[in-house]
Amino acid sequence: MNTELKEKRIRELKANIIDSVNKRVAEVVTVLSVREKNLLLNDFEYAMGKITLESTPEGVGIGAHYRCNTRCIFCLGGRPKFFSLQRYKDFFEPRLSSVISKVRYINFCGFGELLLMPDIEIFLDYVNEKIPDVNKVYTTNGTPLVNNEVLTLLTKSKSAVLISLHASNSQLHRLLTRINTFDQIVSHIKQLVSMRKCQGHPTVNLIFLINTLNIENLPDFVEFAVSLGVDEVICNYMTIFNLSHLKLSCFFKQEITNESFKKAEEFAKKLKFKLKLPPRFGINSQHSKTPLCSDPWKYCYIENEGSVLPCCYAGDHLGYLEGADFETIWNGANYKHLRSCLIKGPDHEWCKYCQKYRSDNVNDIRSHINFRPGFREKILRGYKL
Ligand SMILES: C[S@@+](CC[C@H](N)C(=O)[O-])C[C@H]1O[C@@H](n2cnc3c(N)ncnc32)[C@H](O)[C@@H]1O
Ligand code: SF4
Ligand code: SF4
Repeated sequence: MNTELKEKRIRELKANIIDSVNKRVAEVVTVLSVREKNLLLNDFEYAMGKITLESTPEGVGIGAHYRCNTRCIFCLGGRPKFFSLQRYKDFFEPRLSSVISKVRYINFCGFGELLLMPDIEIFLDYVNEKIPDVNKVYTTNGTPLVNNEVLTLLTKSKSAVLISLHASNSQLHRLLTRINTFDQIVSHIKQLVSMRKCQGHPTVNLIFLINTLNIENLPDFVEFAVSLGVDEVICNYMTIFNLSHLKLSCFFKQEITNESFKKAEEFAKKLKFKLKLPPRFGINSQHSKTPLCSDPWKYCYIENEGSVLPCCYAGDHLGYLEGADFETIWNGANYKHLRSCLIKGPDHEWCKYCQKYRSDNVNDIRSHINFRPGFREKILRGYKL
């Protein structure tokens, strides 16, 4: 198809989709309908591989950092500037209100434990009131769920709690997280699951960060998750942030990892349970077609300081909300270059080793190392590629 025909086809498709959305929402002209239109247009623009977007992303992540009460062995750690309700009101809301009103979800995830923030109850109450229809996603190590008021507020409007548990028993959990609170966390999870029965909120998912110490526990973990009544187990490979993390990477335990995935998957299938796994080792690009990474179209991560990233892996920033409005960054040269590289090539420097770019990158150690400039060189010094 030549360019003119292609563009005509795109215009027609777009007109059709907008027409159908308009018909669907004709009677209910509310904020929700504006969101629905945006989400449909966003799906469409992603599917068509558009470089300049009229839609805004379906999800936004906010670097909502707060102090941590744990020192997990795989965590990067750090001393970031803490998030607060005031920061949300003064910085994020004015700059992102037109985006937030049209997202499907907002992910409050930074370093540490946001749910331990002072006055967290006031924050949760505020966002519940302000954005009831947006799915508010909180990631936690589970310890803050001891707070009954927090539990209650999590059931009050659309939300999801991702609990990074990583193990099905207290011994392994302690080894990974260096805290001795497995039994308490499990009882809070049970409480949350039973409380949400009446309201339907929140979704409760468990995170299992795959590493050499817990990989063989994965099938048991799935069984354990089923017994807790949670909705899903999400597994991610551990990113290597420093030299001490190298030995924890399952890159060095590939057969055992694949075997564990297989068992866990069989279990999940038998029990009709949702399990999300990353690509297996040995996967061959000829046999698997990796879908186009959707993050530069459908997601945007904004750090507490205002720097904008396209995903949780990117090596650098695409812009700064301190100095430019969101729309300018979203359709700025950096974003357009990234989208264009994903569609037409050449490989973008940040994406070329990413497993979301090509799933067979899982077979390359570079996909397991943090993508920030200088990290790979430092970790791989002396390593033969
Ligand atoms: C930084 S934590 C912050 C939220 C909360 N403290 C928690 O642990 O869930 C967010 C997520 O990053 C994951 N994480 C920590 N270290 C990681 C690593 N080296 N590679 C990949 N994910 C990691 C955690 O397991 C958690 O699911
Ligand atoms: S609980 Fe989360 S932020 Fe804290 S050390 Fe563990 S992974 Fe890092
Ligand atoms: S680094 Fe990976 S996740 Fe991020 S935009 Fe590139 S392919 Fe997508």
